[in-house]
Amino acid sequence: MKAVVTGGAGFIGSALIRHLIAQGADSVTAFDNLNSGHRKNLEGLSSQVTLAEGDIRDYDAVAAAFSGADLVFHLAAIPSVPRSIKDPVPSHDVNINGSFNVFRAAKDTGVRRVVYAASSSAYGDTEVLPKVESMQANPKSPYAAQKLMGEHYASVFSSCFQLETVSLRFFNVFGPRQDPNSAYSGVLSLFMKALIEGKSPTIFGDGEQSRDFTYVEDVASLVWKAANAKGVSGKVFNAGNGNRYTLNQTWELLQKIAGREIPALFGPPRAGDVKHSQADTTLARLELGHDPQFTFEEGLRRTFEWYRQSLA
Ligand code: UD1
Repeated sequence: MKAVVTGGAGFIGSALIRHLIAQGADSVTAFDNLNSGHRKNLEGLSSQVTLAEGDIRDYDAVAAAFSGADLVFHLAAIPSVPRSIKDPVPSHDVNINGSFNVFRAAKDTGVRRVVYAASSSAYGDTEVLPKVESMQANPKSPYAAQKLMGEHYASVFSSCFQLETVSLRFFNVFGPRQDPNSAYSGVLSLFMKALIEGKSPTIFGDGEQSRDFTYVEDVASLVWKAANAKGVSGKVFNAGNGNRYTLNQTWELLQKIAGREIPALFGPPRAGDVKHSQADTTLARLELGHDPQFTFEEGLRRTFEWYRQSLA
């Protein structure tokens, strides 16, 4: 089996590549422009893994990378809700036009299936929790709208162009290798860095917003299941753990894990922020065999240990 992971040098992409190799993939190409991904995330991987430097906005480069591939995992994106509000043009171009290139190139080169990394942000604020796939999507930010458009394209490429596609709505993925050094880094990577440096994190709002933080290895194993499940083409599934924790609870837990007390600072709420996020995992369990292995605390412990070693 030959696979291509767009965004393969990112923290989720590189975890997925490790999982694919463990599952017996013959060769995996990480297609990445190294904008937010890093070469070092692929260090220590076998010769079955190659890095193809390229941008999903470049159709020819994408099609060349996909040639001969059975499976494509489309994770490349410009992430971040606040970045998409501050600077919507690049994220529109990459997340919508780039994703279109990926689906089109996959169809043109005879790829069997594309698994697309969609986002829980598509739901927006819902009155009911947990969030289930049958709910009306209600994006609150350009990023959420862009990721939702990718789902629509995935489904249309399945129905109109006979390309198998599956969309997974990732719920706040965290784990080793998540980059804490950007202004738009995910909150848990920032919390980890603050903890190790003995500094206070800044919590936007009152800290009572909640997230279904999902450990990266559980996401990687669900992505692999989505690549192989039968009768699911064109569909959308939640990829979450099924629980939710407030930021205040999360910072408490992390202080316990690290064995140190550091009070958080509080700043104004962030524009475009969703208040609560929690996945209903029923459909993914029934149709994909989703079976998360890591509790939030276990994921936090493993992640903290990785940052402790790598930031020391
Ligand atoms: C959103 C999506 C997520 C997607 C991600 C990509 C939702 C519910 N989730 O994540 O699925 O993968 O975009 O970028 O829409 N915060 C702080 N202090 C900080 C940084 C963040 O308090 O220093 C807060 C934010 O205001 C937010 C929470 O932490 O309430 C999580 O923020 P972040 O990690 O950026 O992810 P989301 O925007 O929730």
